Amino acid sequence: MHSPYAVPGLLTTRAEAHELDVDAVVIPVAQDAAADLTARYAASVGPALASAIERGEFRGAPTEVLTVQAPSQGWRASRVLFVGGGPRRDISSERFRRMAVTAAHAARTQRLARTAWIDAEPGTLSPVERAEAVAESFVVANFDNGVHKSRHDDAFFLRQVVFATANDVEPATRTGLQIGEAINGARVLINEPGNYLTPAVMAEKAAALAAVPGITAEILDEKAIAALNMGLLLGVARGSAEPPRVLVLTYEPAHAPTDKVLGLVGKGITFDTGGISIKPSDGMERMKDDMAGGASVVAALRSIAQQQLPIRAMAIVPMAENMPGGKALKPGDILTGASGLTVEVNNTDAEGRLILGDGLWYARQRGATHLIDVATLTGAIVVALGKITTGLFGTPQPWVDHIRVAADRAGEKLWQLPLFDDYKTQLKSDIADMLNSPGRPAGSVTAAMFLKEFAGEGPWAHLDIAGTAWAEDGKPWQAKGATG
Ligand code: BES
Ligand code: MN
Ligand code: ZN
Repeated sequence: MHSPYAVPGLLTTRAEAHELDVDAVVIPVAQDAAADLTARYAASVGPALASAIERGEFRGAPTEVLTVQAPSQGWRASRVLFVGGGPRRDISSERFRRMAVTAAHAARTQRLARTAWIDAEPGTLSPVERAEAVAESFVVANFDNGVHKSRHDDAFFLRQVVFATANDVEPATRTGLQIGEAINGARVLINEPGNYLTPAVMAEKAAALAAVPGITAEILDEKAIAALNMGLLLGVARGSAEPPRVLVLTYEPAHAPTDKVLGLVGKGITFDTGGISIKPSDGMERMKDDMAGGASVVAALRSIAQQQLPIRAMAIVPMAENMPGGKALKPGDILTGASGLTVEVNNTDAEGRLILGDGLWYARQRGATHLIDVATLTGAIVVALGKITTGLFGTPQPWVDHIRVAADRAGEKLWQLPLFDDYKTQLKSDIADMLNSPGRPAGSVTAAMFLKEFAGEGPWAHLDIAGTAWAEDGKPWQAKGATG
């Protein structure tokens, strides 16, 4: 089996485009700044760009690519790739990343292993943001989905990225590279099928992904889980021959304040058949990605530790396989979670909120003061926001706003949905504290309301990534499969 991704070597340089000893020079183009570029490169590739624009072959629109031959005289590269971004004021963090991934994908397709990015188009980003985004994007673009193909030796990877800039941004490129690696590490786990990635295997592989200086890992097995009275997690795991696990990762640097602890909680259902409330077979194979939230929080903690951020943080990942075995949960069963709350399980396919209930409780138990959970939680969020946008829920509002700002900077689309108390009536059970499946209306909101009952009084946010964890079609800026 070959590697699912390669980490290209990364260099920063103050050299000019024509001096770069690479296969391809990438020049980002804002639609309204193309004339500046044709003037700047008037003696070399400017005329080729100008004539492509004149012919309408290239307009500088978002993620358009134009490949031209580099001048044989005075240039060391063989190709120049122009990548469009639309008007400069529209080049956000997300747009900029799309430009970089698109260019890197194009370079891979054209087998141009050594590439350089000319830091000529700022968009709306600072020099540091640009350096980080380019490094991250080139690593993310160097991912390959074919690791289980027995004949797949033609995968072509970028080997070197040169960031050509006048700014001192080397640390930022290193950060970008680390974030890209963390994203790819999560994608490797998410792409793995259920037979390869059981809860026990996921615990080991996720701990390995997070094995960087500063992180301590513990894996709770079914006995430790029972000792903690995690009846919700144990209930979901009952229908499977594979025992559940809880991965606990902690990062407690000496230079961090001790009064605030970030608790990241991720859904780790390694396969979701629905259990006795079984899913239709059409598309069920996709449910191998039902641990994407768990993989994401592990990758996030890895990045936090690698950047040595001055905060205390932990990642808690409850893991189980949701299967309809002989001992499986039955609709109508009542479970008691570790927090003491009882739940009437009227639908065994609403399993994510069950295991997260115990996970959120445990994060608080371990000292988390600020919670964020990430989960492929509801089909309803795909109906509401499609496969474009992650659903965001939480309280209090300043905490939610922090997360929105961070997502914006990272080039991620989130949209907040409400948690009005009125929705709580839907969670009422006649015989237990609450129901796990309150029906179709506002399915994503009621799922979040369920989680809120386990999140305590402190700041908490919930990201429903059921629509965004997996890309059904490949795009120039986004490969098929796990998005990370
Ligand atoms: N893992 C699914 C949610 C999901 C659906 C993710 C589609 C990705 C694509 C989750 O466990 C689930 O089955 N949710 C149910 C909840 C319902 C029974 C209340 C759903 O959304 O149908
Ligand atoms: Mn389910
Ligand atoms: Zn699920």
